[in-house]
Amino acid sequence: MIILGIETSCDETAISIIEAKGDLKTPRFKVLSSTVNSQIDIHKEYGGVVPNLAKREHQRNLLPVLIDTLRKANLLEIRDTEYEVRENKDPKENLENFLNKVPKLAIDLIAVTVGPGLEPALWAGINFAKKIGERWNIPIIGANHMEGHIVSVLIDREETIVFPALALLISGGHTELVLLKDWTDKEKLGETQDDAVGEAFDKVARMLGLSYPGGPEISRLAEEAREKNIKLETRLPRPMIHSKDFNFSFSGLKTATLYYLKNNNNANKIAVAREFEDAVIETLLSKTKAAIEKYSPKTLIIGGGVIANKALRENFLQFNKSYPDIKILIPPQSLATDNATMIAITGYLQKLKSQNQNLKAQGNLSFN
Ligand code: KG4
Ligand code: ZN
Repeated sequence: MIILGIETSCDETAISIIEAKGDLKTPRFKVLSSTVNSQIDIHKEYGGVVPNLAKREHQRNLLPVLIDTLRKANLLEIRDTEYEVRENKDPKENLENFLNKVPKLAIDLIAVTVGPGLEPALWAGINFAKKIGERWNIPIIGANHMEGHIVSVLIDREETIVFPALALLISGGHTELVLLKDWTDKEKLGETQDDAVGEAFDKVARMLGLSYPGGPEISRLAEEAREKNIKLETRLPRPMIHSKDFNFSFSGLKTATLYYLKNNNNANKIAVAREFEDAVIETLLSKTKAAIEKYSPKTLIIGGGVIANKALRENFLQFNKSYPDIKILIPPQSLATDNATMIAITGYLQKLKSQNQNLKAQGNLSFN
């Protein structure tokens, strides 16, 4: 089946078209086309994502991104001028105009992110999906963004995932360890008690005078420090590294970095970036190891924007040495951050899951 994925939970307007087949044990996907339109340059001057600004940009960008994606997948044949998108026109009018010209396309399912994320931004995607679903008579399925980050490792992969799988999710809003018995059975083992790891990167970057998003900036500085062999003389904390649970906490590390900078006016920024990154890496590795020891997964999945971090990727790939029997799956850097292919895949698995649900009598069924 052909699935259109739509992602607008944060500051990327992303649309993807995939071909999906197979069952829940051996799902297979082929990406027909995928577009990610980043709003980073707009939010940069505010030092972070402004929800209502994100919503407005999504509303503006969704149709041009859709047209671009359909065209790349060879699903749209009408001549350009016939559905021209006018920049200064109301996005609703542009969409109406487009839908009047393009009555129906060969798409079987629309998957749209319903959360977690910034609500105004999510609504932009949901309303867009509803409109085209209605007019083209295509069913819509809501997709969980974090589930998307888990299944991002399935993109361009032909092998069958062996369960149980342990997933470490590290993004701008979430830090979680999740145990999967299969694609339909997930258990959250632990999560951050305060800041998400990506959020800590972004906040520390701001303290260092770096621009948003902070992850890639800190990574660049840390890399430079390693190349020059420059180290901070102080050790920043590795939060909750000895706690017996699978929870995380990054606000203490953030505050320790802030105090260090306050007390050391001439702090070497690249050394601070390196020490901060090392502290994060050590914490994530240690918690993941503890979860591996306890749950003996066959597969380790790491998803979310922070796994775009080069040093972190290298460290996790080293896991193969300590755990040769565990298959380690990490999405390529370009698919670690938000995209709509992962949302289309989530939609497909979600659909299979609902088809699989056995009908059973539930005498006490109530609304929820
Ligand atoms: O998954 P994602 O694209 O969006 C959310 O769902 O939040 O993750 C974005 C987060 C941001 O906090 C960003 O700073 C971080 O991922 N990030 C990185 C790197 N690239 C993006 N963090 C560390 N190193 C990177 N290279
Ligand atoms: Zn994300």
